[in-house]
Amino acid sequence: MRPFDSFPLQSRLERILPDRVKKQVEVWADAASPLFEVKDTRVLSSIGPSAVRGAILKRGKQGRPTEMPASHSAYFDWTYPHDFAEMEDLYKRAKRGQWNGDDLPWHTNVDPLDPNVPLLPDDFLGWDRVEAKGILLTKDEKAKIRHSMASWMLSQFLHGEQGALFAAAQVTESVQFFDGKLYGATQVMDEGRHVEVFHRYIDTKMEKLYQVNDNLFVIIDALMRDSRWDMKFLGMQIMVEGVALGAFSTLYRETKEPLLKELLKNVIQDEARHVHYGVLALREHITKELSESERREREDWAFEVAILMRNRFLAYEVYEEWFEHRFSRAEWREFITGSPGMERFRHIMFGRMVPNLREIGLLTPRIQPAYERVGLAKYFGGLAADKLSGQDLLLDLDIPA
Ligand SMILES: [Fe+2]
Ligand SMILES: [Fe+2]
Repeated sequence: MRPFDSFPLQSRLERILPDRVKKQVEVWADAASPLFEVKDTRVLSSIGPSAVRGAILKRGKQGRPTEMPASHSAYFDWTYPHDFAEMEDLYKRAKRGQWNGDDLPWHTNVDPLDPNVPLLPDDFLGWDRVEAKGILLTKDEKAKIRHSMASWMLSQFLHGEQGALFAAAQVTESVQFFDGKLYGATQVMDEGRHVEVFHRYIDTKMEKLYQVNDNLFVIIDALMRDSRWDMKFLGMQIMVEGVALGAFSTLYRETKEPLLKELLKNVIQDEARHVHYGVLALREHITKELSESERREREDWAFEVAILMRNRFLAYEVYEEWFEHRFSRAEWREFITGSPGMERFRHIMFGRMVPNLREIGLLTPRIQPAYERVGLAKYFGGLAADKLSGQDLLLDLDIPA
């Protein structure tokens, strides 16, 4: 795809502007493009302001703490009911499943450039497609780019975990089932531990931390500010946790680095409970308590956000570091979207996310044609989170090819 193909005016500008200005226009056009991708006006109004703050004003990249005002209500219940047996069960499992990040084998010597213990497999990015453009990379350059890509992914995991930590705290306050609050407290602890172990790994083994990706910032910002508890749940526990599980599982399967593998194995067990919690809470709420119009709004929102997430995590920070002088942003977008590693990631992510959406009542015949159009119908019949253990998630047996 050529740089400005989705924007006819920009296509004309591309022909007449000098190179330096053209590059800047391309960056702005790309930052604004999520707003053009979203078709539904209610979805646009819910994430539009966050898109301006994250993608255009770049609030996550200004080198100082970011404030995100919250507007949800804390829901107290002074009678302390046992009101949700499956959640009570999940709470007990979560207490038994706690682990200590200090116990991971931190003594492991990690050399991110060692070709014998690669962090990512050599085919993750698909070098042949770079070479087809006449760009020849040395072995040394390829190892360094893989290091950058792995650091970028782990940095986004870390930033996502910080979002998950604060969102879990908000959800614990606002959820209306008391068993859900007790369970939520364990998730806050889990997410704190995830921040701890990812940060320690990046800091002591990778020695390379990337800033928060603009599109990840947009999603976190939108969820932190939304006052509706079920939207926080849907966004965080189903969509963001779904992406996280897809990414963690992909990296778990593909990395040969033993400390990272062990770290991810532990984190995935926790994340399986988090998605399970989201399915339990939302199935009850969406199918029994919402009006049809409210349910439809959430159904549309989930579809648009799923597509945005698929299209928007494009590692531009790695592009700017390695390829900016070699090819355009549009060529990078095409390259990274079609890379073998990203295809495997999308397969695992949607294999987890789509069945969960079905299970909570957001994949009715009304929206199914939209998923069919983007090639996701094959995931309709998969197993949802309430049928999968953390151990199942380490395998790949339940996702259709
Ligand atoms: Fe987490
Ligand atoms: Fe989580």
